[in-house]
Amino acid sequence: MPLPLFVSRNGELIPPAEARISIFNPALSGSYGVYESFQIVHGVPFAESEHLQRLAHSAAMIDLALPADLATFRAWIAGLLSANEAVECALRIFVLGPENGGETAAYIWPQPAPTYPAAFYSEGATAITFEGQRSLPQAKTLNTLVSFLAQRNARAAGVHEGLLYHDGHLTEGSNSNLFSVIDDTLLTAPAQQVLSGVARDMVFRVAGQHDIPLRETDLALSDMPRWHECFITSTSRHVMPITAIDGRPVGDGRVGPHSRRLMALFEDYFRQMIAEESARL
Ligand SMILES: Cc1ncc(COP(=O)(O)O)c(C=O)c1O
Repeated sequence: MPLPLFVSRNGELIPPAEARISIFNPALSGSYGVYESFQIVHGVPFAESEHLQRLAHSAAMIDLALPADLATFRAWIAGLLSANEAVECALRIFVLGPENGGETAAYIWPQPAPTYPAAFYSEGATAITFEGQRSLPQAKTLNTLVSFLAQRNARAAGVHEGLLYHDGHLTEGSNSNLFSVIDDTLLTAPAQQVLSGVARDMVFRVAGQHDIPLRETDLALSDMPRWHECFITSTSRHVMPITAIDGRPVGDGRVGPHSRRLMALFEDYFRQMIAEESARL
């Protein structure tokens, strides 16, 4: 992966080689830190407020004081993007807990935006189930071991995503939220069990605007054969249909009408948000 020209450390622009942490940092031994990842589209940070608010929420959940307020984070991001001349990329933010009474450090850097094959959207992507539960599921902490293992198993199985389950219930993807469709209703795990994804929230808003029934409920593994459709969401993927899980087709194994409709409505909503956010800049 190409390195950026600059990384921001609490607003100071440093070369990537200087962005290092010590083996004594509690971010390493205790995963004591939080992170965010979001898209920059035509120079516009997409859903920046939502991501920064979630960063603050994650930090509060582990009693970690951010090194600056969110307005300052915005200024750091703008300075970093302009120094790197980055217009189409993903942005990573890592906030690492303080070491030995030192300062909490927020590192921010741009990296290439993930891209996905067009066939994942036209024909559907595939997934496996993986037994595991993220610790403090509502927080985006540096403890990503379960997601890492789910992703590694998915790669080894030649599929796109690993869907986490625990106590007989599916919760979310390794780095996505999960929706199933039974009859005309979208179903997704309750917010307390998962990371409240920015794209998940957008699906709720879009479904509300278009009177599409949506319910938060436990997603029992044993109900999977009843699913007519399934899709995952994340800010980089938007709405991505899943047409096979553990080698078995979901519904008839094709991208279904509800997934197609949600994909189209989501793209409209996304374009509208980008236009509004770029008008504000
Ligand atoms: C565990 C988990 N769930 C859900 C998501 C989707 O979140 P968002 O829609 O904000 O990208 C992510 C994103 O990284 C994640 O790591």
